[in-house]
Amino acid sequence: MPCSIMDERHAAVTRQQNRRLKRGINSMEWGMANRMAQVIQSDGHALFLPVDHGYFQGPTRRLEEPRRTIYPLLPYADAIFITRGVLRSSVDPDNSKPVILRVSGGTSMIGKDLANEGITTSMEEAIRLNVSAVGISIFIGSDYEKESLLNLSKLVDEGEKYGIPVMAVTAVGKELEKRDARYLALSCRIAAELGARVVKTYWCEDFERVVRGCPVPVVMAGGPQVDSELEVFEFVYDGMQKGAIGVNLGRNIWQNDFPVAMIKAIRAIIHRNASPKEAQQLYSSEKGGN
Ligand code: 5RP
Repeated sequence: MPCSIMDERHAAVTRQQNRRLKRGINSMEWGMANRMAQVIQSDGHALFLPVDHGYFQGPTRRLEEPRRTIYPLLPYADAIFITRGVLRSSVDPDNSKPVILRVSGGTSMIGKDLANEGITTSMEEAIRLNVSAVGISIFIGSDYEKESLLNLSKLVDEGEKYGIPVMAVTAVGKELEKRDARYLALSCRIAAELGARVVKTYWCEDFERVVRGCPVPVVMAGGPQVDSELEVFEFVYDGMQKGAIGVNLGRNIWQNDFPVAMIKAIRAIIHRNASPKEAQQLYSSEKGGN
């Protein structure tokens, strides 16, 4: 075989291996690798749509009727982050996307402490629901730090047994001021050390510090709705440049007046490397179609 063809093949294999490495699926068993590949796309990037907020917030604004919020957005999401109750009641099994099942909870906005979560859903149930991954919150620095970390570890033990990846959610409860690089880097690293296959955190200044210290893929949440769309596009773009693989972004999509335009614009940043300005243009041109 001519040398150039061999070189080309070798280069193609190397490119494929690099892509697999980026998606974190290189050294996994088949089932685990397959589930990771369902939620993280072949470009190594991912747009997760979280609609799990009701598990402690109740009927969150613009998620009061989950089905109405979810359906128009589903075609543009790579996976949905959802509880079993809303999955069963509000998503048709024959028209779904890969599911990341929220399996922690047991607290509410008006209860004593949001950090006092337990595991709410068994691994058997996750398997029965045919999910691609499960997600659990951890609360570093809270009174329930240890419990939430041991819950994560237990879930990872179960998940590894059945090839189901665990996404750790680095929760900050009501204390949004905790969202700085030092705190988030600490939380993400601990989540990865305990075996999370993916970590969800918040964007922050010096975000590269958070990603550098976390040896598994990192996705960014949005938090409460911010003042302008451009602000969202800018932080998503910045986070992607600094090593995030994508987002798990809810309220800044579905609380927007034009949620479909919003998710399409964010998708362009994640999968087509659109700049914030290009995303803004796309959002403006798509608004009419919502
Ligand atoms: C809330 C969550 C959400 O999945 C996460 O916070 C992302 O949503 P948002 O972008 O609205 O913050 O864990 O329970």
